[in-house]
Amino acid sequence: MKKICVLLLATAAVIGLCAGSASADEKQVKIGLIQPVEHTSLNTIRENFIQQLRKIGYSEDRVAIDYRNAQGDRTKIKAVCQQFVSDKVDMIVAVATPAAQGAAAATSDIPIVFLAVSDPVKAGLLKNLEAPEGNITGTSDVVPVDQIFKLAGEITPNAKKFGFLYNAGEANSLTAIEKAKAYCDSNGLTYTEATVGSASEVQSAARSLADKVDAFFCPNDNTIASSMSVVSQVAAEAKIPVYVGAITMVIDGGLATAGVDSGEMGILGANLAGEMLSGKKISELPVVIVQKYNLMVNKKAADKLGLDVTAYKSVN
Ligand code: TRP
Repeated sequence: MKKICVLLLATAAVIGLCAGSASADEKQVKIGLIQPVEHTSLNTIRENFIQQLRKIGYSEDRVAIDYRNAQGDRTKIKAVCQQFVSDKVDMIVAVATPAAQGAAAATSDIPIVFLAVSDPVKAGLLKNLEAPEGNITGTSDVVPVDQIFKLAGEITPNAKKFGFLYNAGEANSLTAIEKAKAYCDSNGLTYTEATVGSASEVQSAARSLADKVDAFFCPNDNTIASSMSVVSQVAAEAKIPVYVGAITMVIDGGLATAGVDSGEMGILGANLAGEMLSGKKISELPVVIVQKYNLMVNKKAADKLGLDVTAYKSVN
């Protein structure tokens, strides 16, 4: 009896070891990883995704990652995704809405995991968040618009006229802006908006808006997030608070937000990718929606406006 037990234990140990590393005949899996633009949040999400994937056992010899960044260029997103398809990658991982839409347009066969898409349904990626019906699932960072406006009401109660600054081509932003409009309409606030098509338009759009409003609201828009230094400079000159849709946008110069942890979007996405790689069906992998928010204020930006934000957790 004792002998059998020892044998069983030894066998279990060998199986355990094998599970952690690639065996010689196991095919290496290839992931095409696409990010639409550089900004602090997306970089953090991508880095955490890779780190977590390695951590849960998908080492470089088991999974090769071909990472591409479209640097804010929509046509490049399309080209990269088409390249992934012709390279016959086993999975596409797409960071943020513009990349996820590019991947979805390029293939309906290759499994796609999106990371941090705020409104996957509005983005046209899938219909059923609980049981994805196609080749796509992922993680979602819903923007708590009402919470952000409540915070604005606490920090700058005299700000009554808001200026919305965003890229109207980003579905993620449209959802947040709709909610912002509804909030303003039912809370005695007015708004006006300035939209941009690309990062090069942000400075002039921000300047024109600054002349007309008491405060900015920028949702978690990838174009604006990649231009936060410009936005915060224009706002500082005009002495206007900038409320934003992401913690990293506060770190990069915005005044305040309620937002999710970017790293978590990548970690949870890697866990999903891991389940897919281990053979689980996409229809059994619901979209993982993160709705745990932290308030965050930028102390330097607050000081410049003479605002007391000691009650809040702050950066800088
Ligand atoms: N949620 C955004 C999208 O759907 C991507 C994103 C994640 C983002 N974190 C952000 C955008 C921070 C701006 C700032 O595309």
